Amino acid sequence: MDYSKKHNIKVYLTEEQLNRRIAEIGAEITERFRGESVYLVCILKGSVFFTTELAKRIELPMTMDFMQVSSYGASTRSSGVVNVKRDLEHSIDGENVIIVEDIVDSGFTMSRLLSLFESRSPKTLSLCTLLDKPDRRVVEGLDIDYTGFEIPDKFVVGFGLDYDQRYRNLPYIGFVEE
Ligand code: IMP
Ligand code: MG
Repeated sequence: MDYSKKHNIKVYLTEEQLNRRIAEIGAEITERFRGESVYLVCILKGSVFFTTELAKRIELPMTMDFMQVSSYGASTRSSGVVNVKRDLEHSIDGENVIIVEDIVDSGFTMSRLLSLFESRSPKTLSLCTLLDKPDRRVVEGLDIDYTGFEIPDKFVVGFGLDYDQRYRNLPYIGFVEE
């Protein structure tokens, strides 16, 4: 990994803006599933920061689990091939499953996860993403239930999102300026 190259990162969404919006989504989910429990699925690694913040804002009985799927590697474009690198630990049969993603870009990852999860008979299945780049969508008809922010077609890092595994720890979302 080349740590010598230093990128310019321009703040786009501050930690305050992110947390305020995440609290709103948490309240929305709490209302939607009142009297029930939810099964939060964090898609590693990018959505770790979002998932933990969101989980704290959902006032319902909850199970959390983690899944890891293949990512871009050092490239900034999706290959369209999505592999499960780490699967869930428990059955989601009869559960109110919420898939929590960092960002939806082409939509390949979400649509692949959707069909995989649907085949496992959850009671309900919802998609939740912190960021959405609608201009980059390749997959048609992807229905996202909860979106934090729609953003322009630019590569972003921070709050869990990486560029070649770097910058996940930034407390804000920023654009990488080449
Ligand atoms: P999709 O399959 O093309 O929708 O890509 C989704 C995945 O690509 C996300 O879960 C991220 O891991 C990665 N990704 C897409 N856009 C960005 C970005 O701007 N910054 C960092 N990762 C991204
Ligand atoms: Mg991801």
